[in-house]
Amino acid sequence: MSESRFAGKTAVVTGAASGIGAAIATRLVAEGAKVVGIDVSVGGLDELASTLGAAFVPAVADVTAEAEVEAAVGTAVERFGGLDLAFNVAGAARGGPIVDLAEADWDFTVDLVQKGVFLCTKHEARHMRERGGAIVNVSSLNAHVPMFGGSPYVTGKAGVEAFSKNAALELARHGIRVNTVLPGLVDTPLVAGVMGYEPLREQFLAMIPLAKAATPEQIAGPCLYLASDDAEYVTGTSLMVDGGWELSGYPDLSIFAG
Ligand SMILES: NC(=O)c1ccc[n+]([C@@H]2O[C@H](COP(=O)([O-])OP(=O)(O)OC[C@H]3O[C@@H](n4cnc5c(N)ncnc54)[C@H](O)[C@@H]3O)[C@@H](O)[C@H]2O)c1
Repeated sequence: MSESRFAGKTAVVTGAASGIGAAIATRLVAEGAKVVGIDVSVGGLDELASTLGAAFVPAVADVTAEAEVEAAVGTAVERFGGLDLAFNVAGAARGGPIVDLAEADWDFTVDLVQKGVFLCTKHEARHMRERGGAIVNVSSLNAHVPMFGGSPYVTGKAGVEAFSKNAALELARHGIRVNTVLPGLVDTPLVAGVMGYEPLREQFLAMIPLAKAATPEQIAGPCLYLASDDAEYVTGTSLMVDGGWELSGYPDLSIFAG
């Protein structure tokens, strides 16, 4: 780690109050960046702000609400004078077998993971157009590998990857790079139900060649690489960070569906 890799840079991180987003924000500040953390969790943002100090500014916003996204992203420009880097991480999922799935659960999940990334990219890129920048969108292994009961999440995350390629194509002329990171199993509150229930956890770990879940920091590192100058010729690509999981496929979760 370099203490100055991102010195002079301003970043926004969505989903910054927890898990992967918090790890990205923490590492960015450690490497010299100023960070605006966007999340719906006021308590989580306040906790991170008390740890990271003046280099971190919390901005409460729901990434599915355009006016809130516009205002929160604008905070980076107001407080730090511009925007160079963006990490669109916020996510959650509701699911169930397709034949029983409620329309509201489909809408919640696809809106959050897919429309949220669109709205954030739109407003981040508007600020980056003047001087260029880099955007990293967090998708999932599930963009490539289906999951029993996970159709809205799988669909939404595949959309994030496709959208990011389209954004890379459109935004290259403004000097903005857009890439996607696809994590496998990461030990965060999002998957507490998997990590805390041994039969389920064992099903997952049996399929992962590196035989363990990632830490949030192990996802933050590849995300920061894609935003760094070391990746200055990398755009429109996807980086799987899954311990090799895509090679072996998903466990059969239908046995847990009852
Ligand atoms: N944990 C995993 O195994 C895993 C695997 C693949 C992909 N991912 C993806 O990584 C991203 C981060 O997940 P995580 O594991 O760190 O989860 P997490 O639950 O620890 O953090 C997600 C954060 O997003 C915030 N959030 C949720 N809805 C929001 C909204 N509408 N507006 C703003 N913020 C909102 C939450 O408050 C939370 O702070 C998600 O997009 C998730 O789908 C996670």
